[in-house]
Amino acid sequence: MVKSILFVCLGNICRSPLAEGIARKVAKERGLDILIDSAGTSNYHIGEPPDSRSIRVGRQNGVDISMLRGRQIDRSDCKFDLIIAMDRQNYANISRLNLGSKLALMGEFGLDGAEIPDPYYGGAKDFQNVYNMLQSAINELFKEICK
Ligand code: 4NP
Repeated sequence: MVKSILFVCLGNICRSPLAEGIARKVAKERGLDILIDSAGTSNYHIGEPPDSRSIRVGRQNGVDISMLRGRQIDRSDCKFDLIIAMDRQNYANISRLNLGSKLALMGEFGLDGAEIPDPYYGGAKDFQNVYNMLQSAINELFKEICK
């Protein structure tokens, strides 16, 4: 049984905090006691709140991520049973850290291996698309975890 999950993107301000917020909500609804966190592979946004567009799309869907703060993945993250990367570049960078945790791509969960596209230089529609993809993948993830 997976007891801890870390979601990882590049900046830890757009995609992975949304994934963390959605997963926390789904875990709570299912009554699951799972440690859920997120991190970035880069050091670009350490200590910063999520991007305002991610906060907004989360809020529109009943997920509050405004209290989260950016951090960079580090060796202590080997404590997570499962680390889920948002795209292949992040997957490759996490893989190089040799943390020993099981590593997966978010798109492996019902999205045919699709990458969660970086919305940073996009608009509200791109953030909504990210939200929809994450919600679908995380529902699938919890179905698999609970098998
Ligand atoms: P994220 O999006 O990886 O989903 O948090 C990005 C955030 C910041 C940057 C790139 C992607 N950046 O280049 O600063």
